[in-house]
Amino acid sequence: MKAYSISDFIYGVHADIETTDLFEGIWPIPQGVSLNSYVIKGEKIALIDLFRDWSDASDQVANALASIGLNFGSIDYLILNHLEPDHSGWLREFREKNPHAEILATAKGINLVKSFFNLDQGLRAVKDGETLDLGKGKILTFFETPNIHWPETMVTWEPISGTVFSCDAFGSFGALGDRIFDDEFTPEELAFFEKETLRYYANIVSSFSVFVERGIQKLSGLPIRVVAPSHGMVWRKKPKTIIDQYLRYASYAKGPAEKEITVIWGSMYGNTKQGLDAVIRGIESQEIPYSIHRIPDENVSWILADTYKSAGLVLAMPTYEYAMFPPMAYVLDIFRRKHIYGKTVLRIGSWGWVGGAKKEYEAAIEGLKWTNLDALEWAGAPNTGDLAALEEAGRNLAKAIKAG
Ligand code: FEO
Repeated sequence: MKAYSISDFIYGVHADIETTDLFEGIWPIPQGVSLNSYVIKGEKIALIDLFRDWSDASDQVANALASIGLNFGSIDYLILNHLEPDHSGWLREFREKNPHAEILATAKGINLVKSFFNLDQGLRAVKDGETLDLGKGKILTFFETPNIHWPETMVTWEPISGTVFSCDAFGSFGALGDRIFDDEFTPEELAFFEKETLRYYANIVSSFSVFVERGIQKLSGLPIRVVAPSHGMVWRKKPKTIIDQYLRYASYAKGPAEKEITVIWGSMYGNTKQGLDAVIRGIESQEIPYSIHRIPDENVSWILADTYKSAGLVLAMPTYEYAMFPPMAYVLDIFRRKHIYGKTVLRIGSWGWVGGAKKEYEAAIEGLKWTNLDALEWAGAPNTGDLAALEEAGRNLAKAIKAG
């Protein structure tokens, strides 16, 4: 992997992670993720953000540094915008290779350096708006942007190139390969990254949407020409694209989102599925986009992404032992944790001897500000009347979303 020139004194050095490991130990990344670091050269040399040693990331970044005549020992300042270990996990090894570099982070970030890595020498806590002069006219400014994605987060600004180094903000899943800039990808590849950006946002950032809006507002006075996140591509041709994308995603947290429906369903013996098929007929009659996910077969990572951007939701599940179908209980727990607010929801399902999902469902969605249409539940297989009512309910949900 070589370094990529962002300007005549700024370089991107990234590692592509291809692994069966889960991101954060939760989220699948079958098409990888990139861990991006950046080099700024003045008289002194700064490295912005580190990585965890995953898929030989340290070798990948070492090779990229070597391509511009540097090594880890050449670094004078290590700037840690964010201390989550995907950007800092290799810090002790870095310190062994480079005992002299000063490590800069916010005060909260420096506390994490001490507690995660047991380091206490050569640390500097920087304040909001503080600058770092690298010499030769290269001056970096730090802006605190808390909770994008943890409380200690900041971004780094370089005014000559107009580059904001934003760490998790404006990031995406998806390995980059041998390209890094937005203008180097085909429309099909950009569409892939847009989907992976939404999935990344919904999985990692969605609970912090209010802070995303606040952070973007804070940076709005800067003449940004390049957005350089620590996951995903560098936006130099159309930096506004990714900023607007993040603003749109942040707005979904308040609801309503896009005029689409996400259908999530589980069925033990096919009775709930029969009812769902009728609901789908109703939705299709209104020609509104919908996605469909079976649980527990599909991973919640993709379900979360589609749900996050949809205004409407169908939850189809049988009663299981006097309560909700357990995979649905898990999905709803993730929705609560990720602040999946403001959906219009149709819940349906079959029961055998006795119902019981309702009480647990209502407790699970408390606080999510969902508008629940009348739920439809039936004993055993749906009869002709049930199927007609289910189709009508699907039609009504679709109409409500279109009108919303
Ligand atoms: Fe990419 Fe919150 O770490």
